[in-house]
Amino acid sequence: MQLIAYVNGNFLPLDEATIHIEDRGFQFADGVYEVIACLGGNFLDLRPHLERLNHSCREIDIDLPCSIVDLEALVHQIYLKNQLDDAMIYIQVTRGRAPRSHVIDPSMQPSLILTLRALPEPSDEKVEHGATAITLRDFRWGRCDIKSIALLASVMGKQQAVSRGVDEAFWLDDEGHALEGCATNLFAVIDGQLITHPLDHHVLGGIMREMILRQAKASDMTVVERPWKLNEAGISECMMSSTTNALLPVCQIDGKAIGNGSPGPVAHQLRQLVLNELEALRNQ
Ligand SMILES: Cc1ncc(COP(=O)(O)O)c(C=O)c1O
Repeated sequence: MQLIAYVNGNFLPLDEATIHIEDRGFQFADGVYEVIACLGGNFLDLRPHLERLNHSCREIDIDLPCSIVDLEALVHQIYLKNQLDDAMIYIQVTRGRAPRSHVIDPSMQPSLILTLRALPEPSDEKVEHGATAITLRDFRWGRCDIKSIALLASVMGKQQAVSRGVDEAFWLDDEGHALEGCATNLFAVIDGQLITHPLDHHVLGGIMREMILRQAKASDMTVVERPWKLNEAGISECMMSSTTNALLPVCQIDGKAIGNGSPGPVAHQLRQLVLNELEALRNQ
């Protein structure tokens, strides 16, 4: 069965869902996006995703093409038009179509595109043995809090990771602080505390990051949002998070084992808490 997409007011079979060549999303990567998980018809944190989309639009002076409430309805509609149980819904908003010029024509209508596909399951192997990663000096732009469709640096980072036989590349700032991955947020357990980079222009405010911090605090873990380095003394575990993979332990970075090189108790506990929350959502 062919998937159904939404493009600027129309629901269309995916193969017929096209956008004009002069759309600024294509010409300049002038747009933003969201990826939302849906489990058995129930959306994970739909409102926070749409609010983050609104933040991304606002920061680059694009008006959301419709209200958050209408967008919420549209997300439900596209899900129902496709027969998937667990799905990932992509929303893309671009500045719209205009003859190619860097200068923004204020009368432009933003483009709104929704697509979806089946939610992938993380491999048992990654859960059991942990993921692996490399680090790279951050060569992305200075507003990583905006979920921009300009993902070339992330594509290159991920490709380097894959070509070196690992799962993810983590970005380091000029002082060597660990920021986040190409498509994940990053955490460490240092002297028993859960540490992650604070929300600023260097990282995306991940929806799964938020869930993990909430679950950690509810379990009486000490959570500290501060810059940190991979060579700090006392690191026993690392883990990464994203909507599509929930939480995965990271057991080797740049060829060096983290802790004892196996998934640790904090990652195990937090992953279980997150999976319980996702299962509860699915059964709602
Ligand atoms: C750079 C970056 N950081 C973090 C994340 C994780 O965000 P979320 O938990 O909302 O999926 C993503 C997801 O695509 C990302 O691209």
